[in-house]
Amino acid sequence: MSGIVAYIGKQEAKHLLLNGIKQLEHRGYDSAGISLFDGKDLLIAKKAGKIAELEKILEQKDISSNIGIAHIRWATHGAPNDINSHPHCDNSGNIAIVHNGIIENYSALKTKLSEEGFSFKSETDTEVLAVFIGALYNKVKNLDEAVRLALSEVDGTFGIAVISKYEPDKLILARRGSPMLIGIGDDEYIAASDASSIIQHTRQVIYLSDNEMAVLKKDSFYTKTIDNIATNNKVHLIEFDIEQIEKGGYEHFMLKEIHEQPNTFFETLRGRLLAEKGDVRLGGLLPVIDKIKNTKRIIITACGTSWHSGLVGEYFFETLAQIPVEVEYASEFSYRNPILDKNDLVFAISQSGETADTLAAIKEVKRKSAVALGIVNVVGSSIARATDAGVYIHAGPEVGIASTKAFTSQIAALLLIALHIGRMRNLSQVDGIKIAKAMLKIPDQMKSILDNTENIKEIAKLYSKTSNCLYLGRGINFPVALEGALKLKEISYIHAEGYPAAEMKHGPIALIDENMPVVFVAPQDEIYKKIISNIQEVKARKGKVIVIATEGDKRIKDYADHVITIPKTIDILTPLLSVLPLQLLSYYIAIERGCNVDNPRNLVKAVTVE
Ligand code: M6R
Repeated sequence: MSGIVAYIGKQEAKHLLLNGIKQLEHRGYDSAGISLFDGKDLLIAKKAGKIAELEKILEQKDISSNIGIAHIRWATHGAPNDINSHPHCDNSGNIAIVHNGIIENYSALKTKLSEEGFSFKSETDTEVLAVFIGALYNKVKNLDEAVRLALSEVDGTFGIAVISKYEPDKLILARRGSPMLIGIGDDEYIAASDASSIIQHTRQVIYLSDNEMAVLKKDSFYTKTIDNIATNNKVHLIEFDIEQIEKGGYEHFMLKEIHEQPNTFFETLRGRLLAEKGDVRLGGLLPVIDKIKNTKRIIITACGTSWHSGLVGEYFFETLAQIPVEVEYASEFSYRNPILDKNDLVFAISQSGETADTLAAIKEVKRKSAVALGIVNVVGSSIARATDAGVYIHAGPEVGIASTKAFTSQIAALLLIALHIGRMRNLSQVDGIKIAKAMLKIPDQMKSILDNTENIKEIAKLYSKTSNCLYLGRGINFPVALEGALKLKEISYIHAEGYPAAEMKHGPIALIDENMPVVFVAPQDEIYKKIISNIQEVKARKGKVIVIATEGDKRIKDYADHVITIPKTIDILTPLLSVLPLQLLSYYIAIERGCNVDNPRNLVKAVTVE
């Protein structure tokens, strides 16, 4: 996701803004830029590449300013180069804007503005918006009104920040479908698309809503809708700590977040799991609890890793609550006119809470009057606010682009929900207690995996030069195989595919030769014997077999080239353990290959465009 930071107040804006965008760096970007007003002129500096490149330009400029906007860009319209970087200006050069999102009707607007004599330097939709605001300013001579009028004519999504030489005491912000938070300081405001840029300055924030804008002066502000109706906003407190967005002694955020999982898993359960009763308390679902209890169908929608946790959730709901489940890619869901009615429950799973495809799916769910529920990490995020009710996973900020701790916490949240629904329906207390007790053992079992990584590092060394890798699993561990393959692809750029192990013989088996590593997720569960046959099929064709197996499984050594063990738990909890070695394997392979694991190429932390 591109990122925005904006400031108005009494401090030097330049350093504050640069530090602000650095907090967003790990989310992925290809260029950075800043605009500052020094009391006389509007300075624009922007550069493709890292923020350090932008800093080099700024070092040569002695500028003092108390108002400014800054941006890191992840290209959507136009290549990642200096010209397409933000900020963009109107034709006078006196209005500067930074923008997250996509202006869908930019082409029509551009044609219209070109016919009126306006010109464009870049290929971006954002410049069209800047020029449009400038054209309207020429008519209305009022900055907030020009912004408002422009936004009421654009289609698509935006989080924007605008400053101008014409009205240099104003910082204007607006959003539709792209997050924007206003941090409230003492005679100063720092706004950003993400709380991590604000938290060093203040914990008090306002979340702008869709189609809302704010006009900030250094000591006051007001908000209104883009239709010009005044709004009131509640002040929220950011709950996480600054340490949570620092590396804490680990070489990478990804490694830190992998190692956090015993704690983050427990945080998801904290205060919710009533182990002695074999039940669960979930305050976030109370508003819709009757609908949940009586539902006949659940749909889960999400993208990427969150979609994989949804596939694990399918097993939970079907096994524990006996409710049929469909798991849908959010990016497909809204575009195929899904059949939904008011009795359907739709769970949208998202770490960031800002994924545009998932947000679009929720809009479709609400349009059809079904119940939209969120399983979200980021408190106050767009998805958390767009859903009727939900459960926060409380995994804390996840900075590494490759999602790790969110996956296990999403699974924990899904398990809590399924257990609760199960108990409201047919699941016995005895079974509930058995599951709850096994859940409480998971943090220590995770620790024992994380304390024994030498074997995984060795295997990573041996296979770091491979070009392909297959991940196979069955039942509830099939989604874990998909997740293992995704992790490897994302951070090491090795081609990897996940399949249900039994599906291999229907095609992928043709790929097996002595150069093909195949990772099996094969804990000793109900279908263990079946997966052993699949392992033998690979071995017979000289494939290299790496198995994630249960501790004490003596038989597995006979079939595998390498074994990584996980502690024994009940079958439905195995994904919580089996995914850890896969996260670590991909991490160490990426390190062997010299890849930038926290900032893999072409990826961003939250994909806020459809
Ligand atoms: O923030 P979300 O959970 O909605 O994000 C969904 C996917 O974009 C995300 O899981 C992505 O696949 C990660 N890079 C996976 O590591």
